[in-house]
Amino acid sequence: MLDAATMTECTEPVETDLNEFDRMLTDSLRGDSPLITSIARHLLKTRGKRIRPAFVFLSSRAINAFNEHSVSASLAIELIHTATLLHDDVIDESDLRRGQETVNAQWTNLISVLMGDYLFAKAFRILVGTESMELMAAVSNATERVSVGELRQIEETGNYSLSEDEYLSIIADKTASLFTVSCETGSILAKRSVRERQRFAQFGEKIGIAFQIADDLLDFVGDPELTGKEPGNDVMTGKVTLPLIHSLKKVGKATRNEILKSLKEESYEASFEKVHKFVTENGGIEYAYKKAERLSSQGLEAISPVEDSIYFESLANLVEYATRRAS
Ligand code: IPE
Ligand code: IPE
Ligand code: MG
Ligand code: MG
Repeated sequence: MLDAATMTECTEPVETDLNEFDRMLTDSLRGDSPLITSIARHLLKTRGKRIRPAFVFLSSRAINAFNEHSVSASLAIELIHTATLLHDDVIDESDLRRGQETVNAQWTNLISVLMGDYLFAKAFRILVGTESMELMAAVSNATERVSVGELRQIEETGNYSLSEDEYLSIIADKTASLFTVSCETGSILAKRSVRERQRFAQFGEKIGIAFQIADDLLDFVGDPELTGKEPGNDVMTGKVTLPLIHSLKKVGKATRNEILKSLKEESYEASFEKVHKFVTENGGIEYAYKKAERLSSQGLEAISPVEDSIYFESLANLVEYATRRAS
């Protein structure tokens, strides 16, 4: 597995952009009320990986399309991402995020939801400043897709017959959507050809799906010290992910029923241990890693016309990090 230092290496060519992004993020979260200020401070204390801004900058620079609106665009996308996490932690009843208490745990569900709404609104106000209707349309579309994905996932909670294709379509909506728009931002802002934009959209979509597969893998194999999230949360909340889908498909009826019985009847600790062993022994972990790798190569293939750019190598390394990360 690759550590956070690897990510810093991959993003080195856009370090200045990321620093500018950090400055703008801190400024934008200067609160409009004491409560907002304390939540903002909490959110800034442990910043995330900033992988979406990194994709905005590397993709933009790879086609020489970085401009005065690129940082604002990345900021809007990161604020939307943060808003979706505030909502997601309420949905998933999670207590831990980025190694510290979630906003819902430290404050309340209500506050987490409203703070999420506040961040959504702020993001769209920032986007208006880019004066790009195309970008606003693309980001709105991505945000709508996140909601569709999260709602679809709720509908499929506890559905242990969920197919691999259905799973992939849900994670494409809930996660890849924001990666897609991050990778398209450069070509949108620089008004490049539809073909170029589509290439980057396809790249973002594939690697976004791979990123979520990797995230779902970390729920089985992750070290909470590194991920900052509790493992086993998906199994506990009935979220059916690729390692389990694949393993359940492979085994006979009797084994399948035994696992389903344990999921439904046994304590969380006992069933997680059993499911963990089951997916490992039936190749579910390996299968999911392979799937993520395949999607990553397809994504990179889509942007092969820019492979001469010095930023392409960083993009390729970042893609590898996204699928083999430990955090
Ligand atoms: C977490 O995203 C939510 C998923 C889509 C898996 P990140 O792993 O990018 O979260 P941070 O911003 O780095 O904490
Ligand atoms: C990702 O979903 C969050 C969104 C896309 C909104 P998860 O529930 O899998 O993400 P984590 O594991 O909580 O970060
Ligand atoms: Mg979730
Ligand atoms: Mg979650």
